[in-house]
Amino acid sequence: KKKIAIMTSGGDSAGMNAVVRAVVRAGIHYDCDVFGIYDGYNGLVSGGNMIKKMDWYDVRGWLSLGGTLIGTARNKEFRERSGRLKAAYNLVSNGIDSLVVCGGDGSLTGADLFRSDWPSLMEELVSTGKLTEMQVAPYKRLSIVGLVGSIDNDMAMTDRTIGAFSALERIIEMVDYIDATATSHSRAFVIEVMGRHCGWLALMAGISTGADYIFIPERPDDATNWKDKLSKVCMRHREKGHRKTTVIVAEGAIDNENKPITSEDVKKVLVDLGLDTRVTQLGHVQRGGTACAYDRMLGTLQGVEAVKAVLEDDGKSPSPMIGILEGKIVRKPLLEAVKLTKSVAAAIAAKDFDKAMSLRDSEFAE
Ligand code: F6P
Repeated sequence: KKKIAIMTSGGDSAGMNAVVRAVVRAGIHYDCDVFGIYDGYNGLVSGGNMIKKMDWYDVRGWLSLGGTLIGTARNKEFRERSGRLKAAYNLVSNGIDSLVVCGGDGSLTGADLFRSDWPSLMEELVSTGKLTEMQVAPYKRLSIVGLVGSIDNDMAMTDRTIGAFSALERIIEMVDYIDATATSHSRAFVIEVMGRHCGWLALMAGISTGADYIFIPERPDDATNWKDKLSKVCMRHREKGHRKTTVIVAEGAIDNENKPITSEDVKKVLVDLGLDTRVTQLGHVQRGGTACAYDRMLGTLQGVEAVKAVLEDDGKSPSPMIGILEGKIVRKPLLEAVKLTKSVAAAIAAKDFDKAMSLRDSEFAE
């Protein structure tokens, strides 16, 4: 009987509970034992009651709950070999041979490193007397499957990350609220949104709310004239009769000289135009709350696919990442997806947008 563990890691995102529910139930459906690892890599390294066997009814009602109910963490110990050795011991002592990880690129890279380290970790557990040859014999390899849970939508080889649309929904709801008070007072609002180095949330929020101006890292404004450009656009809209001004700033926004463009920088420009201006940093409101329909659906379909990928792992192919491309749930090589994500980011940082676009398009090549 296969024993699969599921954990969530890195920043939480709406839809992670759907993933855990789907992995638990699909696992049981396919006659596997499923374990939940609490608090991400922290739980994997500390073991004990942080690794619990889960039954069908343990995940009842989880679809409509926000965050991740098995907890998450950003763990440093797992990055060291000593941490991975403890983690390997904890998995073998629970009889676990497969690990499904839902998290961002850092969490998924860590999981793949664990898989490549696995044989030497087994040797070390035996040579240091922690486990016997007989105990490790059934655990020749570890199956790893990655699912991308992140509000940032910043991973290559998948069109959507689990949680991105829920965060976007939350943002546009908040912008709508702000718009009402902004119009009442004829004010300007600078709204800062999350996304780390990725502008997807800011761009889509801007499009969905009809914002006056958007700042994103992928299209840095010119350091010498962004203030003039912003002023002209906002004044033109005011002259056309707009009673409010909405500017959305991605937290990673920069100018073309790589200098951050902050909400406060933007506010100063609007104040100089004579606009009564406020800044709203949406913060973790964007990440919390329940998952929208899309993320519940995506988490569920991808969770089931993750279990199938575990069951079909022949040990010869690279660890898969479950993605969605052009509406289809797909499996892509996890490490290649992480590598491509980094290459796209590097091309953007080098302002080579054509290269970034062609790398992005290469995701669709077979
Ligand atoms: O990666 C998800 C994310 O929410 C980013 O958008 C943001 O930059 C970061 O995590 C915030 O991290 P923390 O919750 O540790 O403050």
